[in-house]
Amino acid sequence: MSELEKIESELAVLTKQLADFLLLPPCDRSTPGFAKIWRPISRYRVRLRTALQDQGSILSDPRYRDAHTSEMEQRVGYNAAHRRLRLWPNVEDMVNKQVTPVGKQLMPQPSDYMEGAHNKYVNHLYSALHTLALPSAEAMMNLLSDAHPDIALPATHFEALMHAAYRICLAQGRDTPPRFLDVGCGGGTKIWAALPFFPDASGLENNPTQVKVGAAAMAKLNAPEHCIIEADARLFKDYSKYDVIYFYRPLKDPNGLREMEDAIMAQARPGTILIAPYLGFSAENEDRRCSNIAPSIYVVGVSPYQVEGLRRRSEMIGTEAPRHGSAADASLGYWRPIVEASRRNGYAL
Ligand SMILES: C[S@@+](CC[C@H](N)C(=O)[O-])C[C@H]1O[C@@H](n2cnc3c(N)ncnc32)[C@H](O)[C@@H]1O
Repeated sequence: MSELEKIESELAVLTKQLADFLLLPPCDRSTPGFAKIWRPISRYRVRLRTALQDQGSILSDPRYRDAHTSEMEQRVGYNAAHRRLRLWPNVEDMVNKQVTPVGKQLMPQPSDYMEGAHNKYVNHLYSALHTLALPSAEAMMNLLSDAHPDIALPATHFEALMHAAYRICLAQGRDTPPRFLDVGCGGGTKIWAALPFFPDASGLENNPTQVKVGAAAMAKLNAPEHCIIEADARLFKDYSKYDVIYFYRPLKDPNGLREMEDAIMAQARPGTILIAPYLGFSAENEDRRCSNIAPSIYVVGVSPYQVEGLRRRSEMIGTEAPRHGSAADASLGYWRPIVEASRRNGYAL
């Protein structure tokens, strides 16, 4: 083991301790508690820099190179160690924000996501995507009589709902990635829009032409294969497989809509997040089947008292753009436990 590797493995023990500290509830994290863990970590910065310089000199002199590994492998390892050291200020910033985090409401005010030049511009672009993925004239003719045409919820409103649902999922401390479902997904653009938050996203749609056109659009975008399921939302039997279920009033007929809402609430597991951004959702006022946690967002099978605790924990989750685990995480080395703990807290590098 080289001196550099030895230092990195010592540091990994300390960064694991810091990761455990970050996973404490926010009220149990304190500045002195953080300083006690961070101080010994920070001493390694200079040692690492020196060890890297030494390693660089060794690599440039064939006489001293490690005979058991190829020069290429040694250079790859050296470059990766360099990258880890360069991450130092970013990691420090990311961790500092989590020591005494400030809570933020789950849903912003409607004016924050609907008004202003930026929101209007994003919604203008999204409406083009929606039109491009939209069923052909033929599909519009085929619309089932009790269905709403594929009218899209504006992208900035949807993004606010997705981010709130994502923060709730993090606060719930789930062990597996949440599965998202858009009930009545039309051309499928909301599946695409949900992917940055929920990489396992699907939609269901009962208009066969829309399913065909939507599936072709999703394939062009490289969305997960078979992400559009052809089914009637009132008769679908697999709602219990999903963790976040979004339905933007797919059916015009109030009885049909009610049937769909009942089917969803009868099957959804406790803790499932429902997103129903329309007036008249049958459980919007006090309902034993689910409790309201934020505007248009509900949690299945929990009491208003329990949902209040979950809301408070969710508000303490950070609001940075979600980052999910990938193969590249392996090269994070000693930073990995901190990066993973930070992601669970809603913070990213
Ligand atoms: C208002 S659009 C919603 C589009 C998209 N989910 C959004 O939020 O932007 C409603 C969609 O629900 C579909 N739909 C209507 N009735 C349905 C049913 N019984 N089962 C499944 N999908 C249905 C319609 O064909 C239409 O594409």
